[in-house]
Amino acid sequence: MTELDVHGVKLSSLDVGTGGNPVVLLHAFPLHSGMWEGQVEALSRSHRVLALDYRGFGGSEPAPQGMTLDVLAKDVAEWLHCKGVSRATFVGLSMGGYVCMALHRLRPELFAAVVLADTKETADAEPARANRETYARQAVDKGMAWVAEEMLPKLLRPACAAEVRKKVQGWILSNRPEGVAAAQRAMAGRPDSTGTLGAMDCPALVITGSEDGLTPPADGQRMQRLLRAARCVEIPGAGHLSNVENPAAFNAALVDFLKGNRA
Ligand code: MLT
Repeated sequence: MTELDVHGVKLSSLDVGTGGNPVVLLHAFPLHSGMWEGQVEALSRSHRVLALDYRGFGGSEPAPQGMTLDVLAKDVAEWLHCKGVSRATFVGLSMGGYVCMALHRLRPELFAAVVLADTKETADAEPARANRETYARQAVDKGMAWVAEEMLPKLLRPACAAEVRKKVQGWILSNRPEGVAAAQRAMAGRPDSTGTLGAMDCPALVITGSEDGLTPPADGQRMQRLLRAARCVEIPGAGHLSNVENPAAFNAALVDFLKGNRA
């Protein structure tokens, strides 16, 4: 991981491999770019792969007060500019999908292709918004052990292997409560992205874990219809973090999609 000054803040990111259109990996909540280790390993054999820790996560500097998904999307655009990347395939999982959609609203020309995994285009209804505010306060009061306990059953299947669960727990525990709180508030404020999906005219792939309880396969199928040209792949034996629970199937879907877009 290296640090780069972006908009006056230090952002931590990874940039490995060469070839093809660069692939940009945008992580889920409350994790960091480490969650992509299985994809970085597989894809960097044939592609340049970049992954960023959002502000407040991993090795990046703390999130500002009043952080929004647009702030994160602008960070991604500026970071890619610093990296000399003008066009890429974006892969966003869950919150990473929200960042992807925000980025497309701001800078559609950056998109050579898009993969939206275990995410949704809808905004939060009022109870969910209020719950995020409660969650943000509790995260700050109770700390990362509480966040991990709260999130692990939502991110992973009950049948998830113990060593995988432990790894995800470690990623969560290495984050900071203030970053978690800022991200919850940013997600609460996200707009509906139905129109954004309709405007995505690049090749698109939707992925969902077969046992994802947070964004079930039906959400993915709805996104596929809105994206028109998209394919939808269901990852067997996987919950919300489908790339972590079944990296082999997730990578196969990704590699197949990237191959199809090579021309
Ligand atoms: C995520 O996995 O990024 C979050 O669960 C998304 C959300 O809370 O909506």
